[in-house]
Order: sequence, then structure tokens, then C-alpha cells
Amino acid sequence: MGASSAAAAASSTSPPLYSFPTAFSFEGQESFTWLYTTGAILVALLALEQTVYRAKKRHLPGDNWTIPIIGKFADSMKPTMEGYQKQWDSGVLSAVSVFNIFIVMASSNDYARKILNSPAYAEPCIVHAARRILGQQNWWVFLTGKEHVDYRRGLNNLFTRKAIGMYITIQDTVTRKHFKQWREDFASAQPIMFPARFLNMDTSLRVFCGNHIPDEATREISDKYWDITKALELVNFPLPLPGTKIYKAIQARKAAMYWLELAARKSRIEMANGGEPTCLLDEWVKLINDPTYKGKRDFTEHEMAMVVLSFLFASQDAMSSGLVYGFQHLVDHPEVFTKVREEQERVRKGNYENPLTIELLDEMPYLQAVVKESLRVKPPVLMIPYKATKAFPISDDYTVPANSMLIPSFYNSLHDPVSSANANPKNYMVWGAGPHRCIGVEYATMNIMLVLATAAMTFDWEHEITPETDKIACVSLSLHYISPTLITFQNPADSVSPRPLPDEVYAA
Ligand code: HEM
Repeated sequence: MGASSAAAAASSTSPPLYSFPTAFSFEGQESFTWLYTTGAILVALLALEQTVYRAKKRHLPGDNWTIPIIGKFADSMKPTMEGYQKQWDSGVLSAVSVFNIFIVMASSNDYARKILNSPAYAEPCIVHAARRILGQQNWWVFLTGKEHVDYRRGLNNLFTRKAIGMYITIQDTVTRKHFKQWREDFASAQPIMFPARFLNMDTSLRVFCGNHIPDEATREISDKYWDITKALELVNFPLPLPGTKIYKAIQARKAAMYWLELAARKSRIEMANGGEPTCLLDEWVKLINDPTYKGKRDFTEHEMAMVVLSFLFASQDAMSSGLVYGFQHLVDHPEVFTKVREEQERVRKGNYENPLTIELLDEMPYLQAVVKESLRVKPPVLMIPYKATKAFPISDDYTVPANSMLIPSFYNSLHDPVSSANANPKNYMVWGAGPHRCIGVEYATMNIMLVLATAAMTFDWEHEITPETDKIACVSLSLHYISPTLITFQNPADSVSPRPLPDEVYAA
């Protein structure tokens, strides 16, 4: 008799001498079955993940397999221009997946424009966590169709030539105040990203909220807003747990909203008391109180603050980036810098202490062309993530699946070696296109012109070349990138500047 039959015979009469840890024992059987089932489910889910990814991707360029669960999360955390360029060069449409969010990147002008002009299929999503970070309610940028058109029509009134004229006076005052500080601070080479960013934040807040916001609030909002910028990654860690970027960004938004709502309230009170408008909020309150005004007028203070937050979001990163590269391009091209100064001398006739006005800026076509070209060479907004609201037949042989992220990029259009943006204005995608095209185009252009014009006639600049100079830092959101370059601003007192501003200007 073999050992096994002996054991089988014994088991019928007495307890077994040894229990095998196999499926044949009851307890072992349960845990083995559990392990087996869990393993099988996991394998099935992973296989399903790959199958779904491949079914969505079809023939588009992109990895044939996605890294389980996280996909290209690591790459999206540290985006680089080289990484993006590689992706764009892989095809006019290409695919990636991050945390199972299927993403279609569009790199050609035609596809980018098609996405931006197809509100029936796609709406802006900015980044995956944008609504959570910036607030769900009434964020008009996310609206689509008639609702968006109506909302935007009302807000267009805040960017009329008359309104921008008023903003330029504010921008002029704030810029001079900051440059006075820069003269004291910039004894040696300084990375200008953060001073330029703070100048920009201060200018924006003063234009939007005037004196309805105290000085300490502009500093607090500026500092905290950096947490929002950092959190606006293409795809974040999904849970907003304390300590995560999204969590910190939500706290920053709450702090900013506190001050912005307060400003909206103060503006209302001042306008109700017959005050004259001195900022964008005042203009807005006056507009909606006008009995002849036909648009939406029942805005709560919270809603008004949300709109200002959306303007701040737009001006914050994009304009800071535009400013920094404006400085860098001018300092790197002395022949251009000289012509900018010549134009200033011609137009301002030595009266640099007089505030700049919209009429004076109109007389500076060379500076305007410099700003336009600087924004083309280093577009502050590389791309704008949209979301496919339904299956989107984007080409004859490819349909973007519903709920995919869809990212039109502008960089290739702006650097098209075949058809320049001058010859083909459709290639000039700095401000986007279609129903969501930037509402702040004139405002932003004028502000960058004003800052560069004032700086050109205030300082001599030198560019200290560092290993970082030509590197592009894609700051989180992956949309905006800001050079970490160092630029020295010499004090006019020590400089050979042809037209340093006299000290009295700063005493004012
Ligand atoms: C150099 C600076 C700026 C650049 C390069 C820029 C670029 C852009 C781009 C590319 C878009 C997306 C367009 C689209 O989806 O088709 C956009 C939208 C927008 N921008 Fe700007 N922008 C700048 C400054 C500003 C400023 C200063 C403001 C605020 C007053 C602003 C307000 C907005 C708003 C509110 C939208 C969304 C419009 C909508 O959804 O209807 N931008 N911007």
C-alpha cells in the first residue's frame, strides 16, 4: 500500500497526523481561494486597463502599453520642453495616459484650432483638478455655449479702450513703485522671475480691486498664489489630503477669495455712495447698476470675486512669463533694445516722469512688435487642456473617446518654419482661438509694453549668462513656463544709461 492510501484509510478512523496547507484543508482553502481570486481580479483589471487604453489609442502614436495605474504620472510631474517636443513630434495627434485619464495631444495648427472651435464636442478643463482648486461655482471660463457667450459679452465691457486707459494709469504707478524698490535691491545680478511676478501680481490686484484691498493682502495673495500655480499640474495625485499640493492650493484660493469678496463689497458700497470708478471692480459695479444695461446684473460678491480670481489666474502665470521673456529678449538683443529706447525718446520727448497713457503707447509700434515677437518666440501658454464632452470625430480615421483630455498645443504653430505667423496670422496662437480666446489680449499687451518701456528708460540691464539661461522651466501647470535667468539692473546712478529717470520721479 502506498503512503497516500494508508493516510486516506487512517483518516476515516482517526485524526490526521499531518494537515497539508493546500486547498484541501478548509482554512488553507479559504485563504488560498481569496488570494487566487484577488490575484485573478488584479490581473483581469490590469489586462482590462491595457485593453481599454489600446482600444482608445487605436493607431495614434504613443506607447503601446501604459504603465499600470499611474501611466505617465512621473513625466507629468516634471514636464520638460524636450519631453513635450518629443510628444508633439511623434504625430499631429498622439496619445498618453496618466492615472487612467486618456489624453490626446494635438500639435498641428489645424487640429489645435479645430479643438478650440468645437464647443459642441470639447470644453476647457484647464487641468484635471482645476475646478477643485479654483472653485466649482460660477467659474465662467468653464461655461460653454450661449451661457458662456452671454457671460463673456458682459465682461468684455471691462476691457474697452476707455477702461484699459484707466488701468494703464494704475499700472504706471505700481510699476514705478516697484522699480524704485528694484533700484535699491538689485545691486548685483538677480533672478528676475519672482520680482517680476510680484510686480505683476501687485499691478493686477490694483487694476482689478484698486484701493479696496490693503497692501498686506496683495503680498499675502501673491505669496499664497504660488501654491495654486504649483498645484495646477496636468494630472495631480487624486486625493486632496492635507499636505498635498491640491490641499495647499485650496487653502490659498480660500485666502485670496476672502480678500476679493471683501473688495467686491467695498466697491459696491463706494459706487452706491456715488464714488467714481477707479478700478475694474468699480467699472463693473457701475455697469451693472446702469438701468440701460441689458446683460446679467445679479452677481453676488462671491461670483464677482470668482471672476476676478479667474483674471488673476490668467494674468498671474502667463503675464509673468511674458514679462520675464520680454526682459530677456531685450537684454539679449542690444540692437533691438537701442531701437526701443530711440522710440521712447521720440515719443516721450524726454518727459519720462510723465505717466504713460494709452495714446502714448499707441505711438510705439516698434515696442508693440517687439512684445508680439517675444510672446511668439517664448509663448507663455504652451497649450490649453480641453475635455471631450462626447465622442469627437476629430479626423476621418480617429474619434476621440468621450471624457478624454484633449490638449491643443500652440508651440509648433508659433514656430512653424514653413509659414511664419506674419505670413499666416492663423499661426499666431499666443492668445488661443475661438470662443475662449483670451479676453485680456489688449490689457496684457499694453501692460507688458508699459513695463518694458518704463524699465528701458529707468535702468541699464545686463544679462549674466548662467547654465540655466537657455533652460525653460515648465512650472507645474505645464502651460506656462518661466525662465530662471539672472538679469542685473544697474542703478542709474552708477550706469551709463542714456536716459535714467531723475530721482524726483521716485520721490513722488
Ligand atoms: C501674456 C499674457 C497672456 C497670455 C499669453 C494669455 C493667453 C491665453 C490663452 C492661450 C487663453 C486660452 C484661449 C483658448 O482656450 O482658446 C486665454 C484665456 C483667457 N485669458 Fe488670457 N492670456 C494672458 C493674459 C491674460 C490676462 C492679463 C487676463 C485677465 C484680464 C486674461 C484673461 C483670460 C481669460 C478670462 C481667459 C478665458 C476666456 C474664456 O474662457 O472665454 N489673460 N489666455
